[in-house]
Order: sequence, then structure tokens, then C-alpha cells
Amino acid sequence: ADVAEYLQRTPRQLPSRYFYDALGSALFDAICRLPWYRVTRAETALLSRYARQILERLPRPLNISELGCGNGEKLAILLERGGERFRRVHLIDISPAALLSARARLATLPANPVTTFHGTYEEGLARLATHRSQGSWLVLFLGSNIGNFDPPAARDMLRRIRGSLVEGDALLLGTDLVKSPRVLQLAYDDPLQVTAAFNRNLLRRINDEAGGTFDLDGFAHRARWNPQHSRVEMHLVSTRQQLVRIAAADLEVEFQKDEWIWTESSYKYEPAHVLSEGCQAGFLDGEQWIDEDARFALTLFKV
Ligand code: AVJ
Repeated sequence: ADVAEYLQRTPRQLPSRYFYDALGSALFDAICRLPWYRVTRAETALLSRYARQILERLPRPLNISELGCGNGEKLAILLERGGERFRRVHLIDISPAALLSARARLATLPANPVTTFHGTYEEGLARLATHRSQGSWLVLFLGSNIGNFDPPAARDMLRRIRGSLVEGDALLLGTDLVKSPRVLQLAYDDPLQVTAAFNRNLLRRINDEAGGTFDLDGFAHRARWNPQHSRVEMHLVSTRQQLVRIAAADLEVEFQKDEWIWTESSYKYEPAHVLSEGCQAGFLDGEQWIDEDARFALTLFKV
């Protein structure tokens, strides 16, 4: 039903949270290893290098909650470097497959009680607010996941996170930064076409789960940098006029040649902009660790 509503908007859309079924999560893991997509490597390197410095700023014991944990790789780095300070670990992800692999990864570390929550960020945060126990909480919102939100929604999300925290808590936010259009283009339209597969998997998923009739060859992957809005947009462009049915939504959509579905926005930030957004959301002054080569920032916002 959700899908039907989005597909009938102008321009047609599909929300990016639908990328992450089991295959989509695996394709995203592959994207993270592509030489042209540096977000994950840059962030992992910053975390490995500065984990102790970051954690020194925070009270102990510390509980930790990650919004969109994916395969749990980054959280594992923090837990390894943080030693005994951690208590409970709370994982939130839209993908059951990601939660399973995160759990498996964390199981190899010294025991912390891990709880997983399958759902959206908003649902996971609401649970955090009602389930909080002793100790402070560090919320992780990494990987430039916030980049999927348009500016009002990003603000809303930061406020929501701030609203679920109390004094002593903190947010560690990972944001990809503005860089050259050529570099951004390659990051979202890689020569191996893994990102194209990730994008088109959305249509395969609708076919499998909602009785869709998308012809996967009839839609081309497109990524483009939109400098006015400081975002990379991903589209699926219809290569010809075609009719698509989605049985579960009782919907027929007619695509014209070159008509497109907007599947993702990845907003890119400037470091100062991240700091001001955090302040506006009610956090104390942020502290940043930046990879100037890959252009990626980690910002710690305390409450
Ligand atoms: C996981 C949303 C941060 O926008 O860079 C990677 C997803 N899309 N390549 C991003 C993605 C295409 C990624 N986020």
C-alpha cells in the first residue's frame, strides 16, 4: 500500500528503506568494499583510530544503541576498544538479515547483553526511551544514514534522538561530506555496477514480495549529483514505454520512456553545517573527527 502511494507521486518514488532485504543488505555490504565508495572505510578508520578519545569524553558505564547497525562491524570496533565500560547493547535495523549478522559478529566479543529491534529508526528510538535502565546511553547514527533524510526530516530525526536522551547521554553521528562531483558520481555509479544491482534489486523485491511485473531490463540505474540540494539522487529510468502491475497493491502503472522512479537521496554535508544542526536540535557543542582525504566526519554531540 505504501509502495502504491509512493509510485503514484510526481515524480514517482520508492523509499530507500526498502533496499534492505537479505539480498539488498548483501549488495550494500559489497558496495562498502568498492574502491569508489569510501564512506564505510573512512568511518571505520576514524573509529579505529579515535575510539578511545571519543569514549573518554563519555561517562561510564555506558549503554550503546545503534540506529541502522547493518552488519555490526563498526559497533564491534567500539566495543573492542571500549573494554569494560559497556553495559547493554541495543541494535536497531530495518533488515532482519543485517540484525542476524550483527548479532553473530558481536557474539565473538566479550559478553554484553545484546537486544535487537527490527523496525524503523523512529520505532527503535521510542523503545529505547521506554526501556532505559541505569547508566548513560550513547546513540550511534553512523554511515551517513542521516543522508537519506531531506533537511526537514533530518532536523526532525536529530530532535527525536535528542528527545530520547538525558544529561550524560550522547550521539555519535557519521556524515559524508561534500566532495567533487566526479568522485561522488563514481561512488554512486560504480564501474562494476554493484550500485546499479543494489538499486534495481528494489524492483526484484517488489516482484517477489508484492506480485510485481517489473522487467528488470526495462529500468536503468542513474545517479546524479544535485548541487542545489547538496545530494546525490539515485533513479531507475524506464528505458521504454511499459506497463507494470503490482498485484498486492492492486495497481497498474504506465511508465513513459525516460520516466523515472526516485529511489534514494544521499545528502552531503559540510562539517560546520553538521555542528549547527546538532545545536539546533538541542545538543551541546559538537566535537568532530574528520577524514579530509575521503571527506567524512564523525561528530560527537553530548547532552
Ligand atoms: C547507507 C544510506 C548511507 O546513501 O551512501 C550506497 C546507501 N546507496 N550506495 C548512502 C547507498 C548507494 C548509503 N547509506
